Amino acid sequence: MNRKVGFIGIGNVGYMLLNKFLEHKLLEEKNIYTSNRAKANIDKLLEKYPDINVCEDNMEVAASCKTIFLCVEPLNLPNVLKEIKPFLQEDTYLMVSTTMVLNEDLCKIHNGRITVFMPTLISMVNMGVTLAYHNDHVIDENKFLFELLLGKISEVNILHEEDIRVAQNMTASFPGFFAAIMQEFVTSAIQHSKNVSSKDLEHMLLVSLEGAARLLLEKNLSFEDTINRVSTKGGITHAGVQVYKEKLPEVFDAGLDATISRYDVIGELAKKQIEELI
Ligand SMILES: NC(=O)c1ccc[n+]([C@@H]2O[C@H](COP(=O)([O-])OP(=O)(O)OC[C@H]3O[C@@H](n4cnc5c(N)ncnc54)[C@H](OP(=O)(O)O)[C@@H]3O)[C@@H](O)[C@H]2O)c1
Repeated sequence: MNRKVGFIGIGNVGYMLLNKFLEHKLLEEKNIYTSNRAKANIDKLLEKYPDINVCEDNMEVAASCKTIFLCVEPLNLPNVLKEIKPFLQEDTYLMVSTTMVLNEDLCKIHNGRITVFMPTLISMVNMGVTLAYHNDHVIDENKFLFELLLGKISEVNILHEEDIRVAQNMTASFPGFFAAIMQEFVTSAIQHSKNVSSKDLEHMLLVSLEGAARLLLEKNLSFEDTINRVSTKGGITHAGVQVYKEKLPEVFDAGLDATISRYDVIGELAKKQIEELI
C-alpha cells in the first residue's frame, strides 16, 4: 500500500501492530513514520526495520501522515492529541488504540475522523478479536482501511462505544485473565500431583485449551452443550463442574466490577485532563 502511515507510541501495541502489518506486507517500511517518548524503543525497531522513518517528535509524524495510529497510554493520550492538533487536517484519520478515553472527549480537542479500538496481543499469532468504534466523521474509505489492516491479524468487531468496556474483558484483557486463572488451576493441581511437574501440567492445559476452543468453534457447540457431553452425572467431571458453577460466579462478578470501575476512573481522569487542556 502506497500510503504514509504514522505510529505514535511504540510500546507493546504500537510495536505489535507495526510489526504485523509489515510482516503481512500490508504496509511498506519506507511509508512508515514513527515517534516514541523513549528513544530505546525506536532503536529496537530500527534494528529490525532500518528503512522506517524516525521522526524528531509526534508533531513531525502528524505533519507527514494523514493516517495515524495513536498507541500511547490513555492518560498520555490527551497531551499527545493536543500536541499534534495543529498538524491534523480535515481528512486526517486517527486510529486510537484505547477505548478508555471517550470519542466525545477526544473530539473536544480534534473534532475529526477517529476510530477508537481495543486491539489484542493475541494478534501476534494472527488471531483474537479487535473491538472498535468508528465516530460519525469516519468515512467508508477509512473503515475499509481499518478492516484491511486489523482484519488481517484478528477478527474485527464493530460495537457501540459503551459496549466495549465489558466486551474487552473477553478480548484485549483476556490473555492476562486467562494466564492468572490458569496459574491458579496449575498451582492447585500441583498439590495433588506426585510425579508430574507444573511445567508438564501447564503444557497439558494449554494443548487442551487450544483444542477445546477449536472444538467448540468448529462444531458450533455452546458451553452448556460441552458440559453435558463431557460430564456424566455422578462422574468426576460432573463433580468438578458443580463446584465451579457454585464458586465462580462470585469471582467473575468481582473481576468484572473491578475492570469496569477502573475503566470508568481512567476515562474520568482523561476527561478532566481534556477539560483543562482546551
Ligand atoms: N497491552 C495490551 O494488550 C493492550 C490491549 C488493548 C489496548 N491497549 C491500549 O493500547 C495503548 C498502548 O498500550 P501498550 O501496552 O502498548 O503500552 P506501553 O507498552 O506502555 O506503550 C505505550 C508507548 O507510548 C509511548 N508514549 C507515551 N507517551 C508518549 C508521548 N507523549 N509521545 C510519544 N510516545 C509516548 C511510551 O513511551 P515510553 O517508551 O517512553 O514509555 C510507550 O512506548 C494503551 O492505551 C492501552 O490501554 C493495550
